Amino acid sequence: MTERCSSMTRYQSLGKGGKRVILPSLLACDFANLERDIRELERAGVEGLHLDIMDGHFVPNLSFGIPVVEAVRRTTDLVLDVHLMLSAPESYFEAFRKAGADGITFHLEAMADLESPGRNFARRGCLRTDADQLSGLRSRTETALEKLHSLGCACGLSIIPPTDAELLEPYLPLCDNVLIMSVMPGFGGQKFDPCAKEKLKWVRTHSSPDMLLSVDGGVNETTLADCRDSGASGLVMGTAVFCGSSIDEQFGKLNRELQAF
Ligand code: DX5
Ligand code: ZN
Repeated sequence: MTERCSSMTRYQSLGKGGKRVILPSLLACDFANLERDIRELERAGVEGLHLDIMDGHFVPNLSFGIPVVEAVRRTTDLVLDVHLMLSAPESYFEAFRKAGADGITFHLEAMADLESPGRNFARRGCLRTDADQLSGLRSRTETALEKLHSLGCACGLSIIPPTDAELLEPYLPLCDNVLIMSVMPGFGGQKFDPCAKEKLKWVRTHSSPDMLLSVDGGVNETTLADCRDSGASGLVMGTAVFCGSSIDEQFGKLNRELQAF
């Protein structure tokens, strides 16, 4: 199997056949001990890592970029799930693929902002009424998803809480992942927004059961069951995994709850 195929296949296996996985967000890890934390996650049985890339423009925060993704790639064989919270994300697809991303997820709102600069969809979300006026949004977004596949990378689309989930419909056949944000992107440790539950249910009923359906932001021991029961198969968790004294204990407890039903 070529590297391209193995990378996409590994990513696509995360949610296949009703599987559910926790994807720890490295945003909450101890960056002074990145390799130590990754080894603890590997020992705990984690299958993939969520890497939050923030540009200080699409979101009001800066996180990390290519060098850190390259370093994580050199350190582990775990599946790397890269979340691009960037304006004009497609200009970074090749660089993050080359750095070692197995899957790249970008925001529909970033595409809408490219279609209609100045409307600030990144902060206010995109509604059905907005999308109807953005004639180039569908072709731009489809082209971006296809570009990722041409790079041998699994592709995903994400929406922020104010955006209507129905806007995802045309893209679902192309996506390996849909990432429903349950917080406004930019920071870890925020409170889960229950609006994500109805969106998860809607996407689940309109997409292949094998497509990874992820939820991201404020997912923890109290919100995990709602996400699982709403159809999520990828649960991104930062604070909940790294908050305690032992990553192994935290992950084990959360994963037992996730697999309980
Ligand atoms: C927020 C990021 C999330 C965040 C999750 O913009 O996309 O992945 O790191 O962190 P917690 O789980 O702490 O909310
Ligand atoms: Zn994220």
